[in-house]
Amino acid sequence: MDYQSVLERIAQDVAPLIGSGTPAAYIPALADVDPRQFGMALADLDGTVYGVGDWQVPFSTQSITKVFALALALAEGGDSVWDRVGREPSGNPFNSLVQLEYENGIPRNPFINAGALVVTDRLQTLTGDASSELLTFLQQESGNPDVGFDAEVAASEHDHGDRNAAVAHFMASYGNIDNPVPALLDHYFWQCSIEMSCADLALAARFLSRHGLRADGSRLLTRSEAKQINAVMLTCGTYDAAGEFAYRVGLPGKSGVGGGIVAVVPGTCTLAVWSPGLDARGNSVAGVAALDRFTTLTGLSVF
Ligand code: DON
Repeated sequence: MDYQSVLERIAQDVAPLIGSGTPAAYIPALADVDPRQFGMALADLDGTVYGVGDWQVPFSTQSITKVFALALALAEGGDSVWDRVGREPSGNPFNSLVQLEYENGIPRNPFINAGALVVTDRLQTLTGDASSELLTFLQQESGNPDVGFDAEVAASEHDHGDRNAAVAHFMASYGNIDNPVPALLDHYFWQCSIEMSCADLALAARFLSRHGLRADGSRLLTRSEAKQINAVMLTCGTYDAAGEFAYRVGLPGKSGVGGGIVAVVPGTCTLAVWSPGLDARGNSVAGVAALDRFTTLTGLSVF
C-alpha cells in the first residue's frame, strides 16, 4: 500500500477541521499552543516512517504515555497490576473521582487518571524511578535521544494538580497506593510532560503492532499481553468517547490532552496523529477525523 499517498490525501481531507476545537486550558502551559497545527505519521513493522504536515514537531504527549507505562508495568511485574486496576470503560471523564468511592478505590481502567496513577505507582515500586524508566524506554523505541521532559509543562501540571492529588490520596486511603503520594504525583506529572513528535510516537508504539516485540527484536510483552493492551485501548483509550471512537475508527487508540492520538493496526502498522484543538471529551477533533479517514480509505481496521 502507498502509505505516503494515503497520508497526503488525509491531510487534504481534514484541512477544514484544523484549528477547530480548543486546546486544553486547564493546564496553562498547554493552552498557549498554536491550534492550527496538524501532523500524522505511520510506522510499518520494519520501522519505516511515513509522515505529513507537522509530523516531526514535538508536542506534549500527556495521557498517551499511560499506554507505555502500562506496558512497562506488565513487562516488569506481570499480571499483578490487574489486582489494583480494572479493565472496563468508565463512561466518565478522564479525571473523574465519582466511581472510586463505591468501587473501593479500584479505578475502572489504566487509561483514566486514577488508573494511570496506580500503574505509575506500581512502576515506581518495580523500578525505583518510574518517570526516568519510561523516558529511557521511549528514547530507545523511537530511536530519538532528544525525546525529553518539558519542565514547564510538568511544573504547570503540578501547580494545577489538585484533582490528581485528590484522586491519589483517595486511592491511598483504600490502600491502593504504595508510594508516598507527593513523590507519585511528581513521577506522574513528569510522565505527562514528555514531548514527542508523531514520528517518535509511531515508532515507539511499534511493539503493539509487532505483538510485543521491541524495536531491537527483543520481547517486551507476550503476544497475549500485547493483545490485552490493544483491547483495553480500544475499549478505554479515549475516555467517555471510546464507543464513538471504536465506531468511527475501529482501531485501538489512546489520546492525550496535548492533541495527540496513537492508534494500532495489529500485525500491520502504528499511527500517530496530532492537532491541538480538542472536543468536549478531550480528544483531538482533526486527529479523530484523520484516523477515521485512514480506516475508511485503507480498509485497515480490527473489524
Ligand atoms: O492528568 C492530567 O490532567 C493530564 N496531565 C493528563 C491528562 C490527559 O491527557 C487526559 N487526556 N485526554
